[in-house]
Amino acid sequence: MNFKEELAEKTGEAEKIVKEYLPKPEGFQSKVLEAMGYAVSAGGKRLRPLLMAETSSLFGEPGKKLSCFMAAIEFIHTYSLIHDDLPALDNDDYRRGRKTTHVVYGEDIAIIAGDGLLNYAFETAQRAFETAAGVEEYQRIGHALQILGRKAGVYGMIGGQCADLLAEKPGAVLTEETLHFIHENKTAALIQAAMTIGAVLAGADEKEVEQVEKSAGNIGVAFQIQDDILDVTSSLEVLGKPVGSDEKNHKLTYVTMHGLEESKKRVRELSEEAVAVLQSFEKRNLFLEQLVEQLIYREK
Ligand code: IPE
Ligand code: IPE
Ligand code: MG
Ligand code: MG
Ligand code: MG
Repeated sequence: MNFKEELAEKTGEAEKIVKEYLPKPEGFQSKVLEAMGYAVSAGGKRLRPLLMAETSSLFGEPGKKLSCFMAAIEFIHTYSLIHDDLPALDNDDYRRGRKTTHVVYGEDIAIIAGDGLLNYAFETAQRAFETAAGVEEYQRIGHALQILGRKAGVYGMIGGQCADLLAEKPGAVLTEETLHFIHENKTAALIQAAMTIGAVLAGADEKEVEQVEKSAGNIGVAFQIQDDILDVTSSLEVLGKPVGSDEKNHKLTYVTMHGLEESKKRVRELSEEAVAVLQSFEKRNLFLEQLVEQLIYREK
């Protein structure tokens, strides 16, 4: 199997897991459940669950509990996209090749669909306890939950979104430090959560988890710079979301600060650093290394 085929197969497996944990629309809350399903089912690369699973296989075989966290991280990521697209934030009408959730369901339902996914993510993740055997496994799941909460929260993704939103206001002081904070938090934090949770659940030791976090930080920053490049160079058809969104919102990005060529170079450097760390573990995962490398050239 070549890389493309393997990627398609593994994405399909992640897709199946995410759908399996998605709640069915029923009862008086069926509208919000439908909107949650709409946003999640639209597809997407499923990169975070993939990174989680592939990182875990560097250290062991966590089994069923991994699936709960794979679904959970995709729910959190999807909620962040629903809210990110709202008129009060980036005000975008397309996502994953479809109309955004607020365009289809209205802002009110879209907001609570985001809230619903965030909460349901934790309900899903904690189901890992159902399959745990022994104190050590309980501890690993507890640790993974702690990482998920922290990295998705004000000291992670939400913190990054806050700095990102403030940086677009008139009169904001835009420094390299602010930009780095934005990248590390709004995007890299969730990627770090995905990869370190994979490692923790598989039984990696503290030092290994630290190295995984470092590699994931580089992957995340590279991923966001590439996202900012594509916002300038791609098209709605290819990307599935509007281009020119950053310019429209006067966003501070690596591209506006350093230009396209320098940005591409930075993506390459960060990815190489990330792969080098992944290569330093006792076990290698060539698919994971290729996955990280191809993110440099991704077109969506
Ligand atoms: C988009 O993430 C938001 C960013 C952090 C840049 P993805 O590019 O992973 O979006 P999907 O999940 O494939 O739609
Ligand atoms: C990342 O930034 C968004 C989140 C953390 C949700 P962007 O605002 O650039 O993401 P896109 O381009 O809308 O996917
Ligand atoms: Mg945004
Ligand atoms: Mg956006
Ligand atoms: Mg973007």
